[in-house]
Amino acid sequence: NVLRIGLIPADGIGREVIPAARQAIEALGSAIPKTEFLDLDAGFEYFQKHGKALPEATLQKLKEECDCAMFGSVSSPSTKVAGYSSPIVALRKAMNLYANIRPVVSTSTKPEVDLVVVRENTECLYVKQETLEKTADGKQVAKATRVITEHASKKIAQMAFKIAEARPRKHLTIIHKSNVLSITDGLFRESVREVAKDWPGVTVAEQLVDSAVYKLFREPGVFDVMVAPNLYGDILSDAAAALVGSLGVVPSINAGDHFVIGEPVHGSAPDIAGQNKANPIASIRSAAMMLRHLGYDDAALRIEKAVDTVLVEGRLVTPDLGGKATTQQVTDAVLKLI
Ligand code: NAI
Ligand code: MG
Repeated sequence: NVLRIGLIPADGIGREVIPAARQAIEALGSAIPKTEFLDLDAGFEYFQKHGKALPEATLQKLKEECDCAMFGSVSSPSTKVAGYSSPIVALRKAMNLYANIRPVVSTSTKPEVDLVVVRENTECLYVKQETLEKTADGKQVAKATRVITEHASKKIAQMAFKIAEARPRKHLTIIHKSNVLSITDGLFRESVREVAKDWPGVTVAEQLVDSAVYKLFREPGVFDVMVAPNLYGDILSDAAAALVGSLGVVPSINAGDHFVIGEPVHGSAPDIAGQNKANPIASIRSAAMMLRHLGYDDAALRIEKAVDTVLVEGRLVTPDLGGKATTQQVTDAVLKLI
């Protein structure tokens, strides 16, 4: 019985924080089956060298040889680069990892913020169907297609209700903008409402995405589980991360019915990459979430307790949390407690 874990650090601080996640998993010893790690390529730097951001071999090894994986972060350029497309967006689609689950909890015994953003992970504007046209007078017109399906909306709703039901407050908020986008967001909203009928134990509320951000900053305590289409979920989870001190502590999993990839919510942080400053906690927590998803609850809890202790003590934290510790010092502190 071997647990095979694919590791895709990709770019920037992904290369610094994925090794930390690996060490946390290794520190579990016999709490999980024997592990094997497979180093897999992807990312913008890999694209620049080899012309592909997500090599076939990576996808094939994930599908055929791995039980789960950890993804770091990718440095996607802000301008169009011919032939390039974000490998993580492609991976989510290729492996049908339809749910992006992002718990955001403040560090304290009585957390002010304790919510989970459940983000649809395969469609919305992330289908990346964009066109550039020209009007008769030569002016450019850019268009993007936004896809919302009943199928994907109901799938993510099921996942969100399942998560909400398992939490003490059992409360779910549907995030949408169907006052303006009554067809696309309307379908999302109605699909979630439809699924709600199967979950009588969960209370349901809804909030327009703009005022949801407002409410998040004014009264974060009103939210328990938030279910959102892809783009809103992406934005909301970064916003929520600001409430708990740093993007560097917020984990996620990309989950489907047959595979799971742990991934910190943050990006490749080019401003601090290569300086041994990156907070490894988001990745370490993502590893714990990945293990829990596979049924290794005790192992996950061990990692999470170790992380919480380091955060509550607050002595060994990276600069994003106001400290001076390096990536490895924080990792070592966590490893010792595991
Ligand atoms: P970012 O998340 O990389 O950084 C935002 C800010 O948070 C920066 O100041 C950064 O230093 C800080 N930060 C992020 N993670 C941290 C950590 N672990 N420890 C300490 N500080 C941390 O977002 P940004 O700057 O918008 O994007 C940078 C690049 O990352 C872009 O190329 C973008 O495409 C890519 N990106 C990739 C993602 C992915 O791979 N899933 C997700 C988001 C962005
Ligand atoms: Mg994001």
